[in-house]
Amino acid sequence: MVGMEKHLLFLSFLLLFSFVHPRFASAEGTNDRSEQWGYVEVRPGAHLFWWLYRSSYRVEDPSKPWPVLLWLQGGPGGSSVGFGNFGEIGPLDENLQPRNFTWLRKADLLFVDSPVATGFSYVEDESLVVKTDYEAAADLTTLLIELFNGNETLQKSPLYIFAESYGGKFASALGLTALEAIEAGKLKAQLGGVALGDSWISPEDYVVCDLQPLKDLFVLHNEDSHFCLVTHCCICTIMKFSWGPVLKVMSRIDENGLNQSNSLALKIQQQLAEGKLENATATWSDLERVILLYSNNVDFYNFLLDYESNSAAVTESRIRSNRYIERTSTGAGAANGGLGNLMNGPIRKKLKIIPVNVTWQGQGSLVSAAFVGDFMKPRIEEVDKLLAKGVNVTVYNGQVRISP
Ligand SMILES: *[C@@H]1O[C@H](CO)[C@@H](O)[C@H](O)[C@H]1NC(C)=O
Ligand SMILES: *[C@@H]1O[C@H](CO)[C@@H](O)[C@H](O)[C@H]1NC(C)=O
Ligand SMILES: *[C@@H]1O[C@H](CO)[C@@H](O)[C@H](O)[C@H]1NC(C)=O
Ligand SMILES: *[C@@H]1O[C@H](CO)[C@@H](O)[C@H](O)[C@H]1NC(C)=O
Ligand SMILES: *[C@@H]1O[C@H](CO)[C@@H](O)[C@H](O)[C@H]1NC(C)=O
Ligand SMILES: *[C@@H]1O[C@H](CO)[C@@H](O)[C@H](O)[C@H]1NC(C)=O
Repeated sequence: MVGMEKHLLFLSFLLLFSFVHPRFASAEGTNDRSEQWGYVEVRPGAHLFWWLYRSSYRVEDPSKPWPVLLWLQGGPGGSSVGFGNFGEIGPLDENLQPRNFTWLRKADLLFVDSPVATGFSYVEDESLVVKTDYEAAADLTTLLIELFNGNETLQKSPLYIFAESYGGKFASALGLTALEAIEAGKLKAQLGGVALGDSWISPEDYVVCDLQPLKDLFVLHNEDSHFCLVTHCCICTIMKFSWGPVLKVMSRIDENGLNQSNSLALKIQQQLAEGKLENATATWSDLERVILLYSNNVDFYNFLLDYESNSAAVTESRIRSNRYIERTSTGAGAANGGLGNLMNGPIRKKLKIIPVNVTWQGQGSLVSAAFVGDFMKPRIEEVDKLLAKGVNVTVYNGQVRISP
């Protein structure tokens, strides 16, 4: 009888455990353990894929513990495991050649295909796709709990959350969510800081600028445009608009293109003021389309180039900046070019655990569609809250990029 009760107790414990606790669906790695990867089932049917690289450059210094850096891609729906890893900072480039300036020289690197349905991450049912930055942050926090709580070495490494582009919104939300979990004793980790690269934390300021420019901040001044460099509004004009005037002054668009883009920018501002977030996202897509049309396909990641003349950037920028455009055409996110072949070929083979019916996509099409309501929402307050809690926030931006 007692034995039976124990048995039942154990059984209910197991049941409870399996409901509240995320599961490693599977994990794998290299024999030397310098690389580990796997899936965490962050909610029933929702699987996040992660890949951790342990640095061979690690220096043991008790006063300056070796950091671990979580890299979050933009989009939303851009693959960190693909773009961030092979395209930007990982140990190997897209031709599988060693990258001399890999960030592994400075940290262990953790790439996560987030939100679910991005890259190798997947959902068993489309209803499990997340729609907001905070839902994505909750899933990431669940993954961090799973990875960190069982490993004391990781717990001693300060965790830096790095992000680019739309990922800046995830990173700000995750910074807060992770910190709450740490304070509540649920996540055993130390938050080292948050770093936002070219981040999309203030969408309205990227199209319309309400700051009154200060005359002495003007760096360029001529008859049809006046623009200045100010803090979070990269290029603020007395015409209030960001994209059009700078592209006009660079001779990337003509007056007709300028007029059309300015009126769309104004429409976005009105829609945001009315709380019509989905409509603002749609208008933002229209704005990109107008700019592409009038500029002969300016590269949103380097306005000095066209997509065609910047073949290195072509794959990611076209996929990412045209996401709402591609969503409406067939095969959304299918045009992943060389990186798609790499990820679905040799990399998939190496990883061994990718389910047969999961195909890597550079830009998860389910994800960008799901974020239509959150896309234009700012995450500036999150940065203020992080700073108020004493978290270091680093902001870094390029000079020639004009889109998330
Ligand atoms: C990496 O560095 C080595 C040695 O400094 C150099 O020979 C090689 O060309 C570099 N590779 C790239 C891709 O820059
Ligand atoms: C893959 O196929 C299996 C079996 O048909 C199914 O159970 C699973 O949900 C599918 N996964 C995805 C991501 O579609
Ligand atoms: C914990 O993390 C350290 C450093 O990243 C690693 O060397 C070790 O193998 C990990 N332990 C387990 C059990 O995964
Ligand atoms: C652009 O707008 C300005 C001001 O509204 C107007 O004077 C000008 O004619 C317009 N140009 C074109 C090409 O539409
Ligand atoms: C605004 O968005 C809603 C919901 O997405 C849509 O039904 C409506 O047609 C949109 N209105 C405009 C003016 O685009
Ligand atoms: C923030 O960064 C500064 C400069 O690197 C450093 O001195 C400080 O300790 C950091 N603060 C935290 C809380 O990590």
